[in-house]
Amino acid sequence: MNQQWRLARTPAAGWPTDGDFEWIELSAPEPRAGQCLTETLYLSLDPYQWGRRRTGAEPPGSVCHGRTVSRVLQSRHPDYQAGDYLFNTNGWQRLGLTGAGVTDFGYMQPRRLDPKLAPLSSALGVMGMLGLTAYAGMLVQCQPIAGETVVVSAASGGVGQIAGQLAKLAGARVVGIAGDPKKVAFCKTRLGFDDCVSHLDPDFPEALRAACPDGVDVYFENVGGKVFEGVLPRLNAKARITLCGIIAQYGDTSGQSPRDTWLAVGEPVFRAQKIQVHPLFVGDFVPSHQAEFLALMGDYLQQQKIVYLEDFRAGLEVAPTAFTEMLRGGNFGKTLVVVKDP
Ligand SMILES: NC(=O)c1ccc[n+]([C@@H]2O[C@H](COP(=O)([O-])OP(=O)(O)OC[C@H]3O[C@@H](n4cnc5c(N)ncnc54)[C@H](OP(=O)(O)O)[C@@H]3O)[C@@H](O)[C@H]2O)c1
Repeated sequence: MNQQWRLARTPAAGWPTDGDFEWIELSAPEPRAGQCLTETLYLSLDPYQWGRRRTGAEPPGSVCHGRTVSRVLQSRHPDYQAGDYLFNTNGWQRLGLTGAGVTDFGYMQPRRLDPKLAPLSSALGVMGMLGLTAYAGMLVQCQPIAGETVVVSAASGGVGQIAGQLAKLAGARVVGIAGDPKKVAFCKTRLGFDDCVSHLDPDFPEALRAACPDGVDVYFENVGGKVFEGVLPRLNAKARITLCGIIAQYGDTSGQSPRDTWLAVGEPVFRAQKIQVHPLFVGDFVPSHQAEFLALMGDYLQQQKIVYLEDFRAGLEVAPTAFTEMLRGGNFGKTLVVVKDP
């Protein structure tokens, strides 16, 4: 039997609610020639999935999209055998098909994983889309140099923790922004950031000013909203910003696009301070940078120059709850559902 979460309706603006998702049980799909049947081991929960659902890009009735690490159960695919581990896109379901005629989500194609080279789950985080996002935004777009001050928001999260460590390895002074005190402590002690401030601090703008006495040269934007408003006055002339995400604004109900709102708030400062804003879409960097990223990150992990934290949630049943919690800051590290423990 297969079990899956489907999108019940195109959600209203705001944050997910119970009625947005529907639990379905049905028979296992049969692989045709050129396909294999895989069982999901890890499911990645990511903020962009909410964007797809809210905007109608994910049609009601379809299996909720999500990238996965899975194991091949049965294969009629020329490249994969039973027992192989794959990075693929099964979505929020226990069993899925990969291969001929199966629509995959664009820019990250299925590939075989070697569990001896890196923990399987890392293909959904530090060695996957999140790591490449951090690499592209920090090293390709903003290129921090020694002595510069770099600020990263959602600093303990999947992207933020890697982006900040890459800036540290480039010699920058790194200041994180996070919520809960345990996340702030993690950034300073485990990730080695020079400082970290909490956006929950009633005087967050002043705390950020004190943490960045020389202003901010690079800002890696993951959050938007009040966090962005706190960073804006601290930006130095000719600062660089990677506009990676604005998660605080994804539940916006004003009807205006969150990105337009963000730009309208920042524009006067960007113009006055000649600040460069780099919009980021990770898919653009797959053809040009994925291979060099995987080589570099593989080395960093082996040498333990980069550490990462994963937030594992047990059982496919919890996917909607864990997803909503992640969107609202209830995760601690990269959020993954363990659908079946490998
Ligand atoms: N451009 C691209 O191609 C691309 C690719 C991947 C991800 N992204 C973006 O990168 C960002 C991070 O994604 P992720 O997967 O690594 O998620 P994540 O950081 O692991 O989780 C989201 C975090 O956002 C913070 N947050 C949520 N609501 C907030 C609010 N109202 N105010 C302040 N902080 C809030 C929370 O951290 P705290 O509790 O510390 O506040 C939460 O833990 C997202 O904006 C995502 O859309 C973009």
